[in-house]
Amino acid sequence: MALRAEVRSLLGTWRHVNSLHKRPSSSEAHTVTLIPGDGIGPEISAAVVRIFDAAKVPIHWEERNVTPVQSPAGKWMIPHNAKCSMEKNKLGLKGPLKTPVAAGHPSMNLLLRKTFDLYANVRPCVSIAGYRTPYTDVNLVTIRENTEGEYSGIEHVIVDGVVQSIKLITEGASKRVAEFAFEFARQNQRGTVTAVHKANIMRLSDGLFLKKCREVAENNKDIKFNEMYLDTVCLNMVQDPTQFDVLVMPNLYGDILSDLCAGLVGGLGVTPSGNIGANGLAIFESVHGTAPDIAGKDLANPTALLLSAVMMLRHMGLGQHAARIEKACFDMISDGKVLTSDLGGKSKCSEFTREICNRVLDLE
Ligand code: IPM
Ligand code: MN
Repeated sequence: MALRAEVRSLLGTWRHVNSLHKRPSSSEAHTVTLIPGDGIGPEISAAVVRIFDAAKVPIHWEERNVTPVQSPAGKWMIPHNAKCSMEKNKLGLKGPLKTPVAAGHPSMNLLLRKTFDLYANVRPCVSIAGYRTPYTDVNLVTIRENTEGEYSGIEHVIVDGVVQSIKLITEGASKRVAEFAFEFARQNQRGTVTAVHKANIMRLSDGLFLKKCREVAENNKDIKFNEMYLDTVCLNMVQDPTQFDVLVMPNLYGDILSDLCAGLVGGLGVTPSGNIGANGLAIFESVHGTAPDIAGKDLANPTALLLSAVMMLRHMGLGQHAARIEKACFDMISDGKVLTSDLGGKSKCSEFTREICNRVLDLE
């Protein structure tokens, strides 16, 4: 079953490297498309490549630039050779790409998700032992519908001073992300899926999303199903995040709630993300910004991209490599001696990277 394959190949959610995800790992090198991105993107990508080299991960990187190109008709597109590379390799690792507000091309982050129909955006939020944050036992995953909702990009001016933006919700996209969430929960031994919505207000759109979640829940009775209003989730989340497990929701809610959840465990600098599509195509990315103020200064923190790459390793069935790199990274953060400034330290990106490489080698 296709869905099963998509989810199975996902991740051992983080600390729980579970046996279900162990695929026979091959010694052949896999080719992965690397999109370094803008601002600090090239530095943090280089850091991940170095760490993967130290860990002898059998990956060959195919680097591609995604500066958008415009068709003669004015349509913005991903450059042809980047698109072909993704279609061939099916796997991508991506640094941050700048998103212009108002003028110019649309967000390439979104264009990549749409072009490859990466319909489920998976963001694990797990407390890192030893790294002090207001909460210690957060262990949840947000699953965001990634192709429609308020992100459909259908906006127009009705009359001067009045604009309309369409929130598009379809039965198909709601059902597939709900099915993904339940399968994800099952594959990762998680017990509860909570559908997050505002169907009390957006009766038709969120109503349809919720209806599909309920139907899918009926067919997945081994996983507990909850439904909760988005505002109630926010309130409960900051009071006690440990009550949540897997949360599934429409696009914009997922964008906002996933940042809130990242904030509970240390911020976007330490939280990974994966965009999973049909037919095994997936792009793993850090979701922090391009940080132009520190770009090129060897000050960036590569953790979020590294942990996204670790998610990708699990997706590829390279769970042992994933576990070793993840342990090296978490141990180093919890030791607290070599940290970049955003994590409260004074180390440079290169020192941070070297230290993880050394720890990876020690774990061999
Ligand atoms: C994210 C980001 C993107 C989004 C931006 C960069 C377009 O915030 O991945 O969450 O809004 O989805
Ligand atoms: Mn976001």
